[in-house]
Amino acid sequence: MQVIETVSGVRNLRGQIKNSVGFVPTMGYLHDGHLALVKRARAETDTVVVSIFVNPTQFDVGEDLVSYPRDLERDLEFLEREKTDIVFVPSNKEMYPSFSTWIDVEGITEKLEGLHRPGHFRGVATVVAKLFNIVQPGRAYFGQKDAQQVLVIKRMVSDLKMNLEIVVVPTVRESDGLAMSSRNVHLSHEERRAATVLFKALSLAEELWRGGEEDADEIRFQMTSLIAGISLASIGYISIANIGTLEEMKIITPPALVSLAVRIGKTRLIDNAILK
Ligand code: PAJ
Repeated sequence: MQVIETVSGVRNLRGQIKNSVGFVPTMGYLHDGHLALVKRARAETDTVVVSIFVNPTQFDVGEDLVSYPRDLERDLEFLEREKTDIVFVPSNKEMYPSFSTWIDVEGITEKLEGLHRPGHFRGVATVVAKLFNIVQPGRAYFGQKDAQQVLVIKRMVSDLKMNLEIVVVPTVRESDGLAMSSRNVHLSHEERRAATVLFKALSLAEELWRGGEEDADEIRFQMTSLIAGISLASIGYISIANIGTLEEMKIITPPALVSLAVRIGKTRLIDNAILK
């Protein structure tokens, strides 16, 4: 496994690779969710490249950039075990020396996460485009955990005619349903227990839908009531939306994306499910 810190270093290596390249962009502090992406890339492509870069441009002022968890040594051990070929770990200066070009994906970024985190997807789309240009993968792997991010990246790839395939990997969860996230490390023991309410609310939505409930407002109401019963939890949003446009639905026509953001104490968590 080669650990590379510079754009020119990755470019040099990339020039020598003739077989297929699978790429997994991450912000590090890796867990089994990230590793599911790496495993999939390992299974489907010849050369696996992973990037670890806590991208400052996707954090809003006052967000958790400074406290975002980091442990490069541990991350590299995990990646070695998964037989990763190349790890790209650029500095902020390497990625943003002097910089004035941005990618704005319009429409879908004005909803859900985009609405609550202005500028977030501009930062995500821009850094992912840069990483794609540096690594030049045939396939790039993203988690369904960040459903809106997947939509934004797919849209960017399609609109800008980028020559790669986006592969989406299902959300990996803890045994009690909590979606794995680097931010879970911030949860106290009590908050960790409360955090299962996101998965419980999604499961409730699926159960109601399977039971024949088609009224999105009714499902949103029941999810809200469930979460309101947990004193450590405060709701950012609960959405039942068209999976392509993210327009909110009144009567559910499948497939619909149920997604939510909930603050548990100070930690903001997101999760989603698809009603089929
Ligand atoms: P990060 O949060 O580190 O996530 C990296 C990738 O892992 C994303 O595609 C994310 O959806 C996926 N992932 C995270 N938790 C997961 C889980 N429990 N199950 C399955 N996949 C999971 O997402 C980012 O970084 C950044 O925005 C990035 C794309 C790297 C751009 O900076």
